[in-house]
Amino acid sequence: MKLLSLLKKSKIGSSIQYQIKPRKVKFEWQQTPVDWIPNQPFVSYFVNEINMILPAGEFWFCRLYNKVLPQISDEKLKQDVKAFIRQEAMHAQAHASANKEYLSLRNIDVERNLKLMDFLFGKLLADQPLGLSVPKPLEHQWDLFRLGIIATVEHMTCVLGKYVLYNQYWQQLGADPSMLDLVKWHGAEEIEHRTVAFDLYRHLGGGYIARYYLSVVVIAGVLGLWVDGAAHIMRQDKRFKSIHPSVFKPWIWREWYRISQQDNRLMPSPLWLVSQQLGYLMPWYDPVQEAKTEDALAYLNHSPAAKRAILKVA
Ligand SMILES: [Fe+2]
Ligand SMILES: [Fe+2]
Repeated sequence: MKLLSLLKKSKIGSSIQYQIKPRKVKFEWQQTPVDWIPNQPFVSYFVNEINMILPAGEFWFCRLYNKVLPQISDEKLKQDVKAFIRQEAMHAQAHASANKEYLSLRNIDVERNLKLMDFLFGKLLADQPLGLSVPKPLEHQWDLFRLGIIATVEHMTCVLGKYVLYNQYWQQLGADPSMLDLVKWHGAEEIEHRTVAFDLYRHLGGGYIARYYLSVVVIAGVLGLWVDGAAHIMRQDKRFKSIHPSVFKPWIWREWYRISQQDNRLMPSPLWLVSQQLGYLMPWYDPVQEAKTEDALAYLNHSPAAKRAILKVA
């Protein structure tokens, strides 16, 4: 009975008092090598793949959030969602610049991975999936399903955001400052806006039980796409040519696990990432408790790209 009342007592609006601040940034890629963490090609490719996964997904967040914006009745949540949209659009642009001005210029084919993401987020998960119009009575359910996916992904991006924000090891290994700043700036903003997707999902009627199957869909989808995309860019490198990495072959999964076991400051273990979903499935899950906003802001106040943005505005 107590549990039921806990589940029903959803927060109606925003769960934060502070204002989320969008920052305009620009990264320079001229000096960034493919192995942006020296002597760590596997880890470098793995992180580089996020440049291809994120833009289409984050622009999709923006489109869907703009669509449901008029349905938000809580003024503070509406402000949060507007700031979230501006942050996510900037993330997408920053990662897209890495594809164009960094990876493509180093002769890495990014098109195949980008096309896959465009299909997924531009067609399959569109307002009209694969061009089919959703019947009016089901439209809200379709939106809610997609908002639930975003809330689950945002839990993951907060977890990954914490991992990169507190990671000092990449810097000790001599990581490229631009890529390091990109992932830390992005991770810190993911922490800053970690409540928004969850608040919005619940505000518009998203239920608790759906979190279970959405978690399974999201974790399988994200890990599968990430490994598949990383394998595609690794295959182009002659150091990996004889292995011919593929999402369907055990090597890439074993190598990921092996490196994470060798030192989890190099990359987080895939099993650890899956285990991080457990907290999200608890009835008392509260994204506010997931991370410390002050740590994220402390980084954002020193991030070279965010500082350049302030100078430009001033
Ligand atoms: Fe983002
Ligand atoms: Fe986000």
